[in-house]
Parts: sequence; structure tokens; C-alpha cells
Amino acid sequence: MSPERVLFVDHTGQIGGAELILLDVVEGRSRSSAFLFEDGPLGPALAERKLNIIVSNWGRNLSNFRRDSSWFAAVPLVARLVAIVAEIARAARSHDIVYANSQKAFVLAAIASVFARRPLIWHLHDIISPDHFGAMQRRMQVLLANRRAAKVIVPSQAAATAFIEAGGRSDLIEIVPNGLALPPEARTPAELRRSLELPTRPLVGVFSRLARWKGQHVLLEALATMPDVGCIIVGDALFGEQAYAAELKQMVLARGLADRVHFLGHRNDVPKLMMAVDAMVHPSIDPEPFGRTLVEAMLAGVPVIATNAGAAPDILEGGKAGTLIPPNDPAALARAIADVLAKPATLKDQLAYASARAQAQYGVAQMLDKIDHVIRGTRTGAAA
Ligand code: UDP
Ligand code: GLC
Repeated sequence: MSPERVLFVDHTGQIGGAELILLDVVEGRSRSSAFLFEDGPLGPALAERKLNIIVSNWGRNLSNFRRDSSWFAAVPLVARLVAIVAEIARAARSHDIVYANSQKAFVLAAIASVFARRPLIWHLHDIISPDHFGAMQRRMQVLLANRRAAKVIVPSQAAATAFIEAGGRSDLIEIVPNGLALPPEARTPAELRRSLELPTRPLVGVFSRLARWKGQHVLLEALATMPDVGCIIVGDALFGEQAYAAELKQMVLARGLADRVHFLGHRNDVPKLMMAVDAMVHPSIDPEPFGRTLVEAMLAGVPVIATNAGAAPDILEGGKAGTLIPPNDPAALARAIADVLAKPATLKDQLAYASARAQAQYGVAQMLDKIDHVIRGTRTGAAA
């Protein structure tokens, strides 16, 4: 059992990629607690890992606060934000370290850490850029990080560069690539498709939550030009992107894709579903801070087609471990899918290389060791 008493803080009750990482990080930390802004599946999942759970009385629906909101629009929120800061500060006093796992959590935890006089770690899972955050948010994040964070953990060089370009101190950065577990036993795609009741025609899949920047619409545009190709869209709108989800479903009807595009919703068997497709498409139109699904597909032995931005070119080693295409370019995506489905001889080597690379570079144990090191260093080194 790890001796540190860490207060993990997250703004959401949903389980996205950042929260899946958190679930690994908290293993064996039963002296620690999680402070969540709202209820949701994350609370029970953390409690199962023996954490003490504190849910804010004031944080519900705060996630819907839009990133482009002005100070003026934010005014009615201020009282709630102050109340959450007070809740975090109170909880922090019985812990050694505060560990913020999201951008919104960090901002409030940073202010709380001043009152609680506790060191603060920020696990920054985002690319701080105008694509993802408004100017006011970026200024605030960087100012608070430079003044209050003992360390800023990021999952990729792309996320580190964006933080520094936004004015963040480079000496705070600790690059810790996300770690992913190996999938369950290998089964043939044909067997899996039968058991999952998936079509036998050439099949691609996208496995991200439904959000415009994840680019599922670009894949639909590409599929409209490929009448023989089927697709599974796995994932749901987790963070208030229901309108985009509805738009995608409308687009499928309008383009006559309903017989070959299947929305499977949020699933808990992603690695199995991945093994059943001929290619995993990662069509994000904004730079991806990491992209767990890239590594999951590499481990599952499935060809990856991803946009050449953010961490993807690093993870795919410039195209050696998968196919890179320009963002927001349905024609290029269609060509890449056709090339992969033609199963060229080189694909076999690429898949073997990708799987070996994923196992060597993106293991869970490696990630946990590095994070443990940061936590221990912060406990012994930093008094706030
Ligand atoms: N995922 C899942 N069920 C779904 C869709 C996605 O469990 O229906 C998982 C996916 O396998 C991955 C994570 O959610 O592990 C998403 O992480 P990623 O880093 O790809 O993107 P994020 O959503 O965090 O931006
Ligand atoms: C965020 C990012 C994603 C990353 C995940 C875990 O949700 O969007 O790219 O893989 O966090 O770090």
C-alpha cells in the first residue's frame, strides 16, 4: 500500500480516457481520496479501488460551462466555484498532496491549495491551445500552474509543447506516456464478428466518445464514397455533445449509410470489438493529446489510420506503426482505408512492429512507476 495520502480531484463523474488513467493510478492507494465535482460512474469505480469518495454539493453540471464563456456569463457561477474551492481546501487538509486530473479540477484545486497549504500535482490530459480552450482559460491555467504546481504530468511531447508555448514553465513538465494493458486472448476477426453479430463485409471502426473534435463526421464523409465498406461507431457523447451525436445519426440517414454504419453506443469491450475490424480509424480534427485508442489498436493487432496531429505521429512513429493522414480530409481518409483493406504484404510487418512498439513504450507498469516517482518526490520535496 502506498503511504501517501493523496486527494485526487476530477471535475467529471463520467469515465473518459483521463479517468481510465486515473483508475489505474489509484490502485493500491487506499489511504487516498477522490474529490469529484459530480456523481456518475467514476465514483463507484474509484470506490471499488478502495478510495474514500467525496462528492461536491455544488459541482453538478459544471462541465456544461462552455469554454468560450465570458467573465460576464460566468458571474452566476462564481458562488458555486467559491463553495467548491472551500470543499477541496477542507478535504485537502487531511491529505499530503492534491492531484488534479483535469483542467477544471486543476484551476479550483490550485486556488484551494493556497488555503490548504498542500503541494499540488496537475495531470494535464489536454493540449492547451486555442483549439481546445478559450484565451481566458489558457491564461488562468498557465498562471496557476506556474505559481502553484509542483509538477505538471503530460502524456506526450505534443501536450508538453503546447503547455510551454502557452507560457507554462518547462521545468514543471514530466512527460509520462499513457500505459495500456494487453487485450484478452486473440480470436479471429471472423469468430468475433459472428459472436458480436457484426457484418462480414470489410469493416472499419472508430472507438472514441462522440465529440466534434474527435472527427467521426469525417469518417462518415469518407464512407459515403466507399459503398462496399461497413463501419462500427463505438462510443457515446460523454461530455455534453449530444447535439453532435444527433447530427452524426442524421448524417448517416441523409447519406444513405444506415445499412452499413452501426452505432454501438458506449461499450466496455472495446479491445474485443477492435480485434473484429479490419482497421481502426482515429479521425480527430484537432491535435490529440495522446489517444489511448491508438495504442489499444496497436496492442490488438489492428491496422491504425490516424490524423497526423498531436501525439499520433509520435505514437505511430511517423507512419512506421500505422497510417497517418491529414486532419479533416475525407478523400485522404478514404484512400487510406482502401489501401489498408487491400491488405498489402507490408501490413503484416507494420502490425508486428506496432504491437512490439506499444508493449515496449506504453505499458501500464512503466506509467505507474513514473507517476509514483512524481508523487513521492512531491511529498518529500515540496512544502506549499
Ligand atoms: N472507450 C470505451 N468505450 C467506448 C468508447 C471508448 O471504453 O464505447 C474507451 C477507449 O477504449 C479508450 C478511452 O475510452 O480507452 C478513450 O480514451 P482516448 O484517450 O482515446 O480519448 P478521450 O476520450 O480520453 O479523449
Ligand atoms: C484526454 C485526451 C486523450 C488522452 C486521455 C488520457 O481525454 O483527450 O487524448 O489519451 O486524456 O490521457
